[in-house]
Amino acid sequence: MTAGGLPNSWNSFRNMKDLRDYSLLPHNTFGINARCRRFLEIETDEEALRLPSLLTASDSPLLIIGGGSNLLLTKDFNGTVLRSAIRVIEAKAQADGSVLLRVGSGETWDDIVALCVDKGWYGAENLSLIPGDVGATAVQNIGAYGAEASHIIYNVEAVEISTGKLVTIAASDCGYGYRMSRFKQEWRGRFLITHVTFRLQTTFTPQLDYGNIRAVLQQRGIEKPTASELRQAIIDIRREKLPDPLVEGNAGSFFMNPVVSRERFEELSGKYPQMPYYPVVNEASGLCGYKIPAGWLIEQCGWKGRSLGHAGVHSRQALVLVNRGGATGADIVALCDAIRHDVKDKFGIDIVPEVNIV
Ligand code: EPU
Repeated sequence: MTAGGLPNSWNSFRNMKDLRDYSLLPHNTFGINARCRRFLEIETDEEALRLPSLLTASDSPLLIIGGGSNLLLTKDFNGTVLRSAIRVIEAKAQADGSVLLRVGSGETWDDIVALCVDKGWYGAENLSLIPGDVGATAVQNIGAYGAEASHIIYNVEAVEISTGKLVTIAASDCGYGYRMSRFKQEWRGRFLITHVTFRLQTTFTPQLDYGNIRAVLQQRGIEKPTASELRQAIIDIRREKLPDPLVEGNAGSFFMNPVVSRERFEELSGKYPQMPYYPVVNEASGLCGYKIPAGWLIEQCGWKGRSLGHAGVHSRQALVLVNRGGATGADIVALCDAIRHDVKDKFGIDIVPEVNIV
């Protein structure tokens, strides 16, 4: 199956987008109007393999972006922004009843979730409505409502930008952890992801234990949801808490939830008995700390709903920073710093941005 309207063999006849002094406004959900020196959008595998000859030393530095939903631009980018617009969807049924779904990195993630739910391929439904492209799911290890991309990623295909070498990396070699992967760390800037293959199941095992999913379904009189009902519940929960970037620029959770040691947790929960927490258990080493919701910490510091200049803290989810209109990247960073300072002062905890600040 091929998405995007054209059969694969026609791809090489499309025009690659290669632009100079280009505004990144349509490429970041914070709605920041920063420019880049060159913008190169790769549409086919063939173009990806030609990257070493498409780029010269004067094009550096490189910034690889996806849908720009986890990106804060603080100034113009004096280099080349590289983006994949590779669009392909191929499904292969496996003998064990699972389905391997190979998707181009430029496909929109939520379209893939919708397709999976429609086809009866399960495992992605709790990740409904997360903005961004498929390539970014493998970099960021997106997660929500008890699910994580790494639970369903089978492998990642990528081109090494400096050599044009194509590699296929098994999910187990991607170093996945909470909002973490080797693509964000030692491999940063090294690869352009071209495809991600997901392993999905044809038997539906709903994950309903996170937060208020079960309660929302019960309100609708649903005890045993279909995947489509579960997807709709997740969409509604997200819409209620998270601002629509088209209305108010934002990048979802701005900070990661911090993990503290048992000693620190006991000290804090003695002082703040109402503090929410999640024990973090590692298969190999057992309990390795407690995750504290950064949204709660920020709210306790009085920041929820407040603004600093043109930047603000969302009134329904304090983990989300928003562009109140006309904010610059520097305005958002000033708010970020003020919040970090107050959380450190009150709780002794360093909260770290999840968003890629450039
Ligand atoms: N909380 C507050 N005040 C707030 C926000 C949250 O007290 O302003 C408390 C809630 O009451 C709850 C706890 O914090 O007890 C957790 O809140 P929530 O379920 O909203 O989730 P989160 O930990 O704030 C994470 C992800 C979200 C994801 C949700 C649901 C991170 C950094 N964020 O947020 O991901 O949708 O869980 O699974 O892990 C994103 O990455 O962009 C994102 C939205």
